[in-house]
Amino acid sequence: MPTIEVSIVLGTRPEIIKLSPVIRECERLGLAYFILHTGQHYSYSMDRVFFEQLELPEAKYNLDVGSGSHGEQTGKMLMGIERILLKEKPDVVLVEGDTNTVLAGALAAVKLGVKVGHVEAGLRSYDRQMPEEINRVLADHSSDLLFAPTEKSRSILIGEGISEEKIFVTGNTIVDAVYQNLEIAKKKSAVKRRLGLEGGDYFLVTVHRQENVDNEERFRGILKGLEILQKEFGFKIVYPIHPRAKKQLEAFNVEVKGVMLVEPLDYLDFLQLESNAKLVLTDSGGVQEETCILRVPCVTLRDNTERPETLEVGANVLAGTNPNQIVDKVRTMLDSGTNWENPFGDGEAARRIVQVLRNARLSEESFRELRIGGNR
Ligand code: UD1
Ligand code: UDP
Repeated sequence: MPTIEVSIVLGTRPEIIKLSPVIRECERLGLAYFILHTGQHYSYSMDRVFFEQLELPEAKYNLDVGSGSHGEQTGKMLMGIERILLKEKPDVVLVEGDTNTVLAGALAAVKLGVKVGHVEAGLRSYDRQMPEEINRVLADHSSDLLFAPTEKSRSILIGEGISEEKIFVTGNTIVDAVYQNLEIAKKKSAVKRRLGLEGGDYFLVTVHRQENVDNEERFRGILKGLEILQKEFGFKIVYPIHPRAKKQLEAFNVEVKGVMLVEPLDYLDFLQLESNAKLVLTDSGGVQEETCILRVPCVTLRDNTERPETLEVGANVLAGTNPNQIVDKVRTMLDSGTNWENPFGDGEAARRIVQVLRNARLSEESFRELRIGGNR
């Protein structure tokens, strides 16, 4: 049976982190693959630091697309990815998540007749205002192999008419990433000492989503909530600030009170801070999952989530951006237990995904065989 070649398309911080276990597994098994980086993220602290720290192989291509409007950024990516796919002729393009990179990778491939594998398929917020929701839906409906993290995401896909044979429930690769890096973080990271957090409890914050930080009222609401929390609990509040949020703070000329703003952290430092935090406030998808895995209470600064599993197990609560509501939800979460089950799998998601890719003979017939063969 001829082996297949996979083009792993990535471009942002969460994709690098969540695909790192898949890349490691490809390396371990000697699967033919290459990394195509779109360059959507390019600052050292959003990109290279993860390749270095997670010891990932260099991308074979980097399109250096950089920032821009949705259309401009996605369009440049589409052109660049198409050019490379025509040259390399891989059998499968693998994308992960819901960014513009994912949309461009899936769309470029499907238009050329190259099979698409989507890691983290079947997530839905049902909020079409979010660019991520559009990207998820379009990527899923362009895909031939849909790696759903949970049974819930699988049933969402089936409900949208996607054929069962294409769907594989694998768990989320973020569990693999956490398990692979948590112990190393404990040993190696000096972030708590560096930030003066050794002595007491602290809250960790990440906020970067377009619907929050590009909206002055919502962003100010969140920052006000953090200011009240700091006064009320007396804990330090640490916010490694995403470049988008930093830019918007400057644009809105907001004075931040009661919050320690720090540069975006590398993965080991972030995991170390996250796993030791009293509570985390976030609008990040990956952080909602990680806190759930780490049994750290999470308050999500959004009105909806495509990770309802975290709400159902009691690891997470939606607070929106109203300051008083944020404070109330923090209180609720601090008074609740943390003894929930992790719904995102056993840390073997990457192994399952690569197994499916290795076995794929790229005909509808073989997809069916794979599923019957027990890859769910
Ligand atoms: C993107 C994803 C979002 C994801 C996030 C992960 C889309 C539509 N959005 O949002 O789903 O949660 O990545 O972090 O794909 N910037 C830098 N350096 C960088 C990257 C960005 O300074 O390396 C700044 C630029 O000012 C840029 C802004 O951040 O304009 C936004 O970057 P962009 O890639 O458009 O979206 P993110 O907000 O990063
Ligand atoms: N993360 C990190 N450093 C930080 C903030 C986050 O390494 O300063 C990691 C975090 O552990 C998680 C991922 O980045 O794995 C989440 O990415 P992000 O919040 O940018 O995107 P989202 O998950 O919302 O798409």
